[in-house]
Amino acid sequence: MVNTILAPSILAYDNCDLLTAVKIIENSGAQWIHVDVMDGHFVDNVSFGPKLVADLRRHSDLFLDVHLMLDRPDRHIVPFVQAGADALTIHREVTCDVGGLLGAIRDHGCLCGLAFNPETALDFELVRLADVVLLMGVHPGFCGQNFIAETWHKILQLHNFRNGNKLSHKISVDGGVREDIAKNLICAGVDIIISGSAFFSNPSAFKFCLN
Ligand code: DX5
Ligand code: ZN
Repeated sequence: MVNTILAPSILAYDNCDLLTAVKIIENSGAQWIHVDVMDGHFVDNVSFGPKLVADLRRHSDLFLDVHLMLDRPDRHIVPFVQAGADALTIHREVTCDVGGLLGAIRDHGCLCGLAFNPETALDFELVRLADVVLLMGVHPGFCGQNFIAETWHKILQLHNFRNGNKLSHKISVDGGVREDIAKNLICAGVDIIISGSAFFSNPSAFKFCLN
């Protein structure tokens, strides 16, 4: 019995048919819906806003895991909280007061997440402030990329830090997670498996995450 959370990323599905994506996620037994928010500055892509989160909230009771790939997340926390997000993840690479923002997200009643791009070293002082630490397995911006192998080292580092310091943050991995990689992530102690393209190409293949 593992306590893994599966969080399919709806960006990977047909964006004109997201209600079907929600139904597929619900039928799969996954507990979270991962929502990728991109501003065209922090990453070279533009995606969803608070309106989509509010609409998802009306259509589903699943936990809404909102990943903010934004240069200025500080400007957008409140609209996403009001839309019904359950977790808000911001990136270590932004120039805002990341520690202060993590606290503000938690004060709003959401889980606060801290994400690291593949080339960004772990910042352990900030890790201590987060409920969820998200390690990118790809350079953020687009679905369907290949998992970057160096991520394994960072997972091990983070896992050792958590255990060594008796911390309780969840470890999440996002980007390029195919079924075989998901199996190894669970073995490596990852708590939250985020998958877009691979999940929607065969949702039942990810059932093992939930057993
Ligand atoms: C990448 C996003 C990921 C991505 C996952 O910038 O944060 O959530 O959409 O999709 P796959 O699993 O296809 O890499
Ligand atoms: Zn994401």
